[in-house]
Amino acid sequence: MIFRQLFDAVSGTYTYLLASRRGGEALIIDPVLEKVDRYIQLVNELELKLVKAVDSHLHADHITGLGALRDRTQCVTVMGERSKVDVVSMRLAEGDKLTIEGMALDVLYTPGHTDDSYCFTMADRVFTGDTLLIRGTGRTDFQNGDPRAQFDSIFNKLLRLPDETMIFPAHDYKGETVSTIGEERAFNPRLQVKSVDEYVALMNSLDLPNPKMMDVAVPANMRVGLAQEEIARRGWAIKADEAVTLIGRPDVVLIDLREPRERAKHGVIPGSLHAPYPDLAVNVRSGGMLNELARATGKRIVFYCAFGERSAMAVQAAQEAGLASARHIQGGMDAWTKAGGPLVL
Ligand SMILES: [Fe+2]
Repeated sequence: MIFRQLFDAVSGTYTYLLASRRGGEALIIDPVLEKVDRYIQLVNELELKLVKAVDSHLHADHITGLGALRDRTQCVTVMGERSKVDVVSMRLAEGDKLTIEGMALDVLYTPGHTDDSYCFTMADRVFTGDTLLIRGTGRTDFQNGDPRAQFDSIFNKLLRLPDETMIFPAHDYKGETVSTIGEERAFNPRLQVKSVDEYVALMNSLDLPNPKMMDVAVPANMRVGLAQEEIARRGWAIKADEAVTLIGRPDVVLIDLREPRERAKHGVIPGSLHAPYPDLAVNVRSGGMLNELARATGKRIVFYCAFGERSAMAVQAAQEAGLASARHIQGGMDAWTKAGGPLVL
């Protein structure tokens, strides 16, 4: 496994780069905007392909690198389903898996620091975001933070992991890099409480100043969505209510770019084909499956995904590959469902 812990000294943020092998797919957790050049350089040096960029929660102390990484690498942006961010490519819930080639992380919903905080676990380690820090816990006094919920997330979810599980948090301000569940249970001063009420009282007594970047970072991080309007201006978008009329048309083929788990969970458009986003580049280039399909049948390819981001990037790639009739459903399955479009589950 390739594992890198990267540090942004300005915000005290840890960012994690993961891959199962050199030359394979990579995942980045909690990237910082100012460090995006460095991440891309490292990804290239290790001959990796960045396929997913994930935020553990909506950050208040730095601007996320999610949008910039997506724009520069066409990776999929991922957050939890509870996040109020405008658009990400994929949303996860507790029990879902965060997957790349050769790796699958389990998703835990761990509200408390914020109401959109998630942790990601592997066999030997857990990425705890700002839920559980080394000898500390994430503050609970803004962004719908809730010390009672945090107590539950820590004691009833994280501390149930095996003692030897390594903890990799999203922040540290003292130079600590890694701990374990057992070590934190024993030595984290915030966890030496006898009841949830004692924990709530402790957290409510902290009286911390707001993060310096908060007024800039929170609004910026709420708007990481890809500018789908630009795709629409070029005439490559179809609104969901219009797209509903395309079902069953012989001159149109609807292409679902989502992962099998998303399809199983949220349903698919009747009659659509599955061509997952990670294979897009291969599929749209000359000789590729979708390129051949479009040329041989004259059918118009209409891409869709969860929220319209992957499909917006796909329509752009298809246009660049010469498929001038390619379109996408603006807003994805989210918009489709809201428009009353039929689903097959
Ligand atoms: Fe945070």
